[in-house]
Amino acid sequence: MFLVIRNLRKSFRSGERVIEVLRGVNLSIEKGKKIAIVGPSGSGKTTLLNLIGTIDMPDEGEIYFRGERIDFDNEEKLSEIRKRHIGFVFQFYHLMPELTVEENIKLPGLMVGLREIELKERLESVLRRLNLVDKRDSKIYPLSGGERQKVAIGRAIFLSPELLLADEPTGNLDPESTQEVFNIFMELSRDQGITLIVVTHNLELAKKMDKIYLLKEGILLEYEKLV
Ligand SMILES: Nc1ncnc2c1ncn2[C@@H]1O[C@H](COP(=O)(O)OP(=O)(O)OP(=O)(O)O)[C@@H](O)[C@H]1O
Ligand SMILES: [Mg+2]
Repeated sequence: MFLVIRNLRKSFRSGERVIEVLRGVNLSIEKGKKIAIVGPSGSGKTTLLNLIGTIDMPDEGEIYFRGERIDFDNEEKLSEIRKRHIGFVFQFYHLMPELTVEENIKLPGLMVGLREIELKERLESVLRRLNLVDKRDSKIYPLSGGERQKVAIGRAIFLSPELLLADEPTGNLDPESTQEVFNIFMELSRDQGITLIVVTHNLELAKKMDKIYLLKEGILLEYEKLV
C-alpha cells in the first residue's frame, strides 16, 4: 500500500483549552489513486494534510509512506520526503512575488541542486504541460488566479513527486479556472500515475475522484457509505 494512516491523533492547545482535532484517523491509499477529502470548516482537513505532508507531527498514530513508517523525529529524512516525494498546492498559491513564473517553478530544482541541463529540461516540460510558455518571464502580480495556481502546480510537480497534496486548490478560483485546474490534476493522475489527495468544498469535482472521504468530529469516513 502506498500510503497507510493508522489511528492518527492530533490536538492543539489554545490557552487552557485543548482542541482534539483528529481523534483516530485511518486511511489507506493505493498508488495512483485520487481521493477527495470534504468536511466542515475547522474539522481538521488542513491539519490532516499537514501531517501527511510531514509539515506537522502527530500526537499519536502512524503514517506509512511508500512502505516505510515515517519517523517524525528524523528531520533530515522528513525534509527529504517533503522535497523529493510530495508536492503541495494551497488555496492561496504561496508563490514568490519577486520571482518570475519560470523562477518560481524551478525553485525546488534549485533547492536540491539539479544540474543546469536537467533544470532546463524539466522546466520546458512543465511549462508546456501547463500551457505557461507565454508567461514564463512574467512576474506573479499580473497573473490571474487560475494562472497563479498553474504556476503553483508547476512548482509542486517540478521534481515529479509520487504524491500531490492539494488544500482547497480551487477555493479562490472562478468556475473556468476551477475546471482547468481539475483537468490538470486528472491528466497528472492519468499520465504520470501521481497519487492525489485533494481537500475541496466542491462536491461536483470531488465526485471525479476515485473516492470521497468525509472528515467529521475527528474521524474520516467513506462518503459513499454515508449517502
Ligand atoms: N497551529 C494551531 N494551533 C492551534 N489550533 C489550531 C492550529 N491549527 C489548527 N488549529 C485548530 O484546529 C481546528 C482544525 O483546523 P484546520 O485548519 O485543520 O481545519 P480545516 O478543516 O482545514 O478548516 P477550513 O475548511 O476552514 O480550512 C480548528 O479549530 C483550528 O482552529
Ligand atoms: Mg483548511
